[in-house]
Amino acid sequence: MTDEEYELVEATPSSDDYRRLRIAAGLSPKSAEAAVAGLPNTIYAVVIRKDGEAIGMGRIIGDRGLFFQIVDIAVDPKHQKRGLGKRIVGALVEHLHKTALPGAYISLIADGEAHRLYSLFGFKPTAPRSIGMYLHFK
Ligand SMILES: CC(C)(COP(=O)(O)OP(=O)(O)OC[C@H]1O[C@@H](n2cnc3c(N)ncnc32)[C@H](O)[C@@H]1OP(=O)(O)O)[C@@H](O)C(=O)NCCC(=O)NCCS
Repeated sequence: MTDEEYELVEATPSSDDYRRLRIAAGLSPKSAEAAVAGLPNTIYAVVIRKDGEAIGMGRIIGDRGLFFQIVDIAVDPKHQKRGLGKRIVGALVEHLHKTALPGAYISLIADGEAHRLYSLFGFKPTAPRSIGMYLHFK
């Protein structure tokens, strides 16, 4: 399988693709209602397609000035370890380099071993100076 077979598109994933890809990649499921409410507020996103099917994605959300967050980085397991995660994160970081104002703070929560992927692009752990925290409404 060559790199050219995978097309990186600057686009927000559809609600169906988004929900399917999250589950395929082992991320927590999201409701259609939440996806339909949230996805249109995406600042920038990319989708990786193969033969027309979305098999990877990543999004930037935030206030467009002060704070940005990288979320929903996912590659279908059937297509992992071929550099697609790097292509996705690279595209998001490049967009931020082009558009974000000096002083912008870009954060993310790295699950499992994914911190190795993000560190390739200069991301540093917040610990021990601070601890990322969350509240998840059920
Ligand atoms: C994280 C994820 C998107 C990486 O996708 P991928 O296409 O397999 O990544 P790549 O092939 O571009 O390689 C990722 C790089 O990160 C590092 N890495 C190693 N093991 C890794 C792992 N288990 N997870 C992520 N990155 C890993 C490596 O440095 C690798 O670079 P290398 O090829 O030079 O060694 C994919 O594993 C995934 O969808 N995981 C499940 C969902 C998830 O955890 N998302 C991140 C939430 S924060």
